[in-house]
Amino acid sequence: MALTQSGSGRDGWSSRTAFILAAIGSAVGLGNLVRFPAEAGANGGGAFVLFYILCIVLIGLPVLLSETLIGRHGQAAAPESFRKVAEQSGKSTAWEHVASLGVLSAFLVLAFYCVLGGWVLYYVGVFAGDLFTTGISGGAFSDMTVAEVEGLFPAMISNGTMTVMLNLVFLAVTVFFVSRGVSGGIEKVAVYLMPAFFVLLLGITIYGLFGGQMGRTLAYLFTFEPERLTGPVMLAAVGQAFFSLSLGVAGMVTYGAYVGRNVNLAGTSAIIAAADTAVALLAGLCIFPIVFAAGLAADGGLGLMFTTLPHAFQEIPGGSLLGLGFFVMVGFAALTSSVALMEVPTAWVSERFRFARPVAAGIVTFSAAVLGALSALSMGVLSGFHPLGFLPMFEGMGVLDTLDTLTGKITMPIGALLTSVFIGWVANKRLVDSENGLDGGLHLFWRFLVCWLCPIALTLILIVGIFPGVLGD
Ligand code: PFF
Repeated sequence: MALTQSGSGRDGWSSRTAFILAAIGSAVGLGNLVRFPAEAGANGGGAFVLFYILCIVLIGLPVLLSETLIGRHGQAAAPESFRKVAEQSGKSTAWEHVASLGVLSAFLVLAFYCVLGGWVLYYVGVFAGDLFTTGISGGAFSDMTVAEVEGLFPAMISNGTMTVMLNLVFLAVTVFFVSRGVSGGIEKVAVYLMPAFFVLLLGITIYGLFGGQMGRTLAYLFTFEPERLTGPVMLAAVGQAFFSLSLGVAGMVTYGAYVGRNVNLAGTSAIIAAADTAVALLAGLCIFPIVFAAGLAADGGLGLMFTTLPHAFQEIPGGSLLGLGFFVMVGFAALTSSVALMEVPTAWVSERFRFARPVAAGIVTFSAAVLGALSALSMGVLSGFHPLGFLPMFEGMGVLDTLDTLTGKITMPIGALLTSVFIGWVANKRLVDSENGLDGGLHLFWRFLVCWLCPIALTLILIVGIFPGVLGD
């Protein structure tokens, strides 16, 4: 039977550790492993990394605390939690629509995130097949040319039947856990997979340490050149910090709703943010030594993970096993994030329409599968379909890129901005203070951040995201 910590008769985390692991599982994902290293490399290494850490502490952490606080106070699906806080503060219940937007964002991100999850599964299969046929010695894919290995990715994404099937498999695994509830499913996946994830990450990073390219990696990631800290670099860092901490999609509101009253939210949020940042940094320290050891250049974007790395594993000893371990690790991280993404609309559908959880999860999965299929096919047969192409910021984008841009540059920053305004300016101060677990100078500092710094920074991200020319290059 599910243990209930929240005291409201609902399903909930069975311990504080379970919540921490699940929230870290939500935060740690493709954003840390794929996006962070690529962005750090593309945006000036040390300058980006240092500013990213500042953003996590000064902007991400205050919003993370705000989201979990709203959820814990409301003890319900995200819109209902916002409504309760607004009502008890004597303010308009229309604030619940901030969370409705979050539910929509989470659904849209889920749809394309599981397509990427499917790609990861493909590489797990490819490396497992290689290990099985050619064994552990030497590099991976010994019977293939470099061009063939680098050709795997374009061939896969343009094969619609395969990517749609892989997407369905990834969604099926996700819904398997979400439909079992918080303590019986979501928590289980985090409690088992996150420790396994950390073991794999540390193992591969240690391999890199002995591979001899750590010095070059450290220089690449941490050389601080202040002149590279330009406006666009700073904005890339803020946006990455938000995506990485899973903010702006009401995800942490939803997870916060299953937290017991006895948990100190400020301390817990700090642990979550610290772990997420540590994983992003370790991801850089794990990926680049492998790439450099193979004598390759570190490119940005999806190419780093899906083209450069498989080629790198071809060049280094034990490449098949290392590649398999690497993609299994990425798959674990992606799964704990997709579970969080699916939980947000599932909790809402289940509470709003009073559906049993498996039914609600089934409806969300079916809808995400349809939108996911369109996203998967946008890399192949549907590449000429640009749903929002009539707007300049979405010009030439297929479904997958449109969803990524729409959520990352518009709906998630709006969600996070309104959340900070809600907690900083709208919600009753006493209510907020009774939940946040802060006092003294730290409390005043947090108030300053939520009331001023977060809204200003998030407004800037929005403006620059929509009108990229504003800051120049
Ligand atoms: N934080 C995840 C990542 O870095 O991959 C992405 C994410 C997961 C965003 C869950 C939002 C969310 F609710």
